[in-house]
Amino acid sequence: MWLVVQMSIPTRRRALPVTGARTARPRAVPGGRLGGWPAVATAAGPAVDSDLVRAARGLPVSRTPVWFMRQAGRSLPEYRALRAGTAMLQACQDPDLVTEITLQPVRRHGVDAAILFSDIVLPLVVAGVDIEIKPGIGPVVASPIRTVADVDALPPLEPDRLDFLATAVRRLVGELGATPLIGFAGAPFTLATYLIEGGPSKEHARTKAFMYAEPEAWQRLLERLAVSAATFLRVQVDGGASAVQLFDSWAGVLSATDYATRVLPHSRAVFDGLDASGAGEAMVPKVHFGVGTGELLPLIGDAGADVVGVDWRVPLDEAARRVGPGYSLQGNLDPAVLLADRETVDREVRRVVEQGRAARGHVFNLGHGVLPDTDPGVLTHVVELVHELSAR
Ligand code: CP3
Repeated sequence: MWLVVQMSIPTRRRALPVTGARTARPRAVPGGRLGGWPAVATAAGPAVDSDLVRAARGLPVSRTPVWFMRQAGRSLPEYRALRAGTAMLQACQDPDLVTEITLQPVRRHGVDAAILFSDIVLPLVVAGVDIEIKPGIGPVVASPIRTVADVDALPPLEPDRLDFLATAVRRLVGELGATPLIGFAGAPFTLATYLIEGGPSKEHARTKAFMYAEPEAWQRLLERLAVSAATFLRVQVDGGASAVQLFDSWAGVLSATDYATRVLPHSRAVFDGLDASGAGEAMVPKVHFGVGTGELLPLIGDAGADVVGVDWRVPLDEAARRVGPGYSLQGNLDPAVLLADRETVDREVRRVVEQGRAARGHVFNLGHGVLPDTDPGVLTHVVELVHELSAR
């Protein structure tokens, strides 16, 4: 085994591009949009041997892959310029804008993966739920779910309404070449919090009250959200996404018992539904992420993930112990560190890279999304530093 690994790395290295960004430079056309889309790529395209996919599977890598949650967004002036005058959820349904915004951080930072520009509430919006994303606030639902009848009235997501998504993903995969595209969806619990609270919330008290008081309706709601998340992911994988991430951002508000019995089965159903609908093809690696999930880490992988996303609260060596063998880790630099001085940034990046060595594979990321005030130059620097520290 050792011999095979030793022999295979130099060969693979020669085949790798210098950085994904250099190979992924899209052709510009007037108006800053893109044109001349190459042929359709599949899930088994050139990114299948990328460091991101290899780290997710626990295979040797040429260097630790790095990308940032919310890498496409308000930290980038080119994003703010492109988004001006277009509402967030409208932008998410415009294949030209989705493609360009997704590529922006890949070009600028040389990250090892692109993440689709979209939002976790988009499948609900496409299905016909009245939701708006208010700047500085987040998703706001016009008629929150408060009764069992509201659950039953939730419209299903028809896959043929996702043509814009299939188009964007195919274009992106063609443009990205050997750089993997990460597809994503919101997990049933986190989507339920928005539907029940009507918007962002700290305590998620209404959500938990509904979960305890209406267990059957709760189950039906999460089952429906799991089907729509799997549908949303399936379109992205069919279009050629190389990995998927399930965002259960707010699962950390639950006790381990409630999470295990009332939530985890539905997140598992998303991954299972994705696998079942793509029978026979090579399965893409799956990342499962939430914030404040220190107590839930032993369970998060159980949903069917290959990679467990960790926020900044638990160091990666400790997280590796909690998740157990058989999983790679993603994370976990505190996004606030990027607002501090360069010495602090470098020290913390070094620590995360070191502690990440305890896992079978490590995908460097932040513990949560990039804060809008972050200097994009610091993000580029972090990519370079992670690569330098981990080059084999
Ligand atoms: O770069 C990327 O990571 C890809 C795009 C992405 C967005 N949202 C774009 C976005 C992803 C993966 C998401 C997921 C998402 N959306 C999550 C899970 C991840 C997490 O942060 O925990 C959640 C909880 C949402 C819901 C949501 N959408 C929130 C809380 C907000 C922020 C509201 C605000 O203005 O502060 C959004 C809006 C949103 N989603 C923006 C972006 C780039 C900002 C929109 C803008 O430019 O005004």
